[in-house]
Amino acid sequence: MALEIIVLAAGQGKRMRSQRPKILHALAGRPLLGHVLAAAHSLSPQRTVVVHGHGADEVRAAFDGAQVEWVLQAEQLGTGHAVQQALPRISRDADVLILYGDVPLVRSETLRRLASAGREGLALLTADVDDPAGYGRIVRDAAGRVARIVEQKDASPAELGLREINAGFMAMPASRLAGWLEQLTNRNAQSEYYLTDVVTLAVAQGLPVHAVKVEDPWEVAGVNSKRELAQLERRLQKMRADALLEAGVTLADPGRIDVRGELVCGKDVSIDVNCVFEGGVSLGDGVRIGPHCLLRNVAVGAGTEIPPFSHLEDSEVGARCRLGPYARLRPGSSLAEEVHVGNFVEVKASRIGRGSKANHLSYLGDSDIGSGVNIGAGTITCNYDGAAKHRTVIEDDCFIGSDATLVAPVRIARGSYIGAGSTISKDTPPGQLTVARAKQVSVASWKPPLKKKS
Ligand code: UD1
Ligand code: CA
Repeated sequence: MALEIIVLAAGQGKRMRSQRPKILHALAGRPLLGHVLAAAHSLSPQRTVVVHGHGADEVRAAFDGAQVEWVLQAEQLGTGHAVQQALPRISRDADVLILYGDVPLVRSETLRRLASAGREGLALLTADVDDPAGYGRIVRDAAGRVARIVEQKDASPAELGLREINAGFMAMPASRLAGWLEQLTNRNAQSEYYLTDVVTLAVAQGLPVHAVKVEDPWEVAGVNSKRELAQLERRLQKMRADALLEAGVTLADPGRIDVRGELVCGKDVSIDVNCVFEGGVSLGDGVRIGPHCLLRNVAVGAGTEIPPFSHLEDSEVGARCRLGPYARLRPGSSLAEEVHVGNFVEVKASRIGRGSKANHLSYLGDSDIGSGVNIGAGTITCNYDGAAKHRTVIEDDCFIGSDATLVAPVRIARGSYIGAGSTISKDTPPGQLTVARAKQVSVASWKPPLKKKS
């Protein structure tokens, strides 16, 4: 039977003390709801319905283009009420899986187990935890069968001592769910329609209620506060660091790396402390990253070294390059092999050919730089005339003297030498020295100014 998924995500998340809807807060650079949807999609459901409410416009905008159907729960009257809102979208012959948008670390494998356990009647995801405070507790009968779920606020002192908690995720056939939802009431401590009451209804019908228990309680941990968000962030980063170590990456300190996207590494990659990887980053064999670097959407070729404090974004770096310390690649930069980009060099929307070097204090924007080029310290491409951007072309084997300003659009022909301090605004001929600066003069009659005696 086809699987359909309902994700509950209408709650405000008061304890986050934030204007933003809770499910939009980022874990490892991705909204909480994004993690849940990724796990959901890996099960290839026929349909995913997201029940949203708080910050509805903001939430939909953040997931523009996602393969989901949105259902609005204008007033949050409880988890049971939320599922009622989604029910009209669900096919009567489907198997249903109910997830929460604020429980981000659940694994697809666990969801698969839960979905298949729910086909016969009702399945719940549970965990044994040290501190069950705040969760609904699983109450079992004398024979150990699940009897009901009692919410913290409705629990007796004895029930409060139970340590098996309800993660909130459930699975069941849609036809059964529909029947149960009709019978929910809000006669409880919070005057809410509790989804958890379906357990009592299933038991009364003599249906099997399966508790699918997870080994690792982190999998079912929900985010209710910034403190819990930070704890889950550390947990997720630890898992990612472990996976990198497992794959043979050398990490100076697995507690000091943040991967907020996907990091793919070749063999013998080493990463020093406090590096952050965002979006899709790939590091070829033997790449070495120094401390305090930020890489976002970059591919780095084999054998390249990136000394400390470098910041690389939306760029491609070839093999055996050397960048930094303090190098900055802005979007659209593409470096061939064996390129050196040194300290305080900023590169934007530029291509730099094989073996070219810009080692110190430069701005290279909107430029096409050939191979074997040497860019002297302080060189600047003046790419902006106040209205539009223009390109600078530097052909192969040029030597640009220190502190040159290249006023775009301009072409420096192959093998040109540019004298230090020149301001070049016209194309240069190949293989010649071009100097464009005031002639040096010395004034023999000059006298130093006299200081007045006071
Ligand atoms: C719920 C469960 C509890 C479980 C806990 C696990 C019920 C009655 N209780 O309690 O047994 O241990 O989750 O985290 O189900 N939501 C809506 N609309 C609503 C209410 C909630 O969409 O009207 C969404 C929230 O955005 C959230 C999820 O449902 O994603 C859970 O809601 P929350 O208020 O956190 O439930 P708990 O009281 O924690
Ligand atoms: Ca909760």
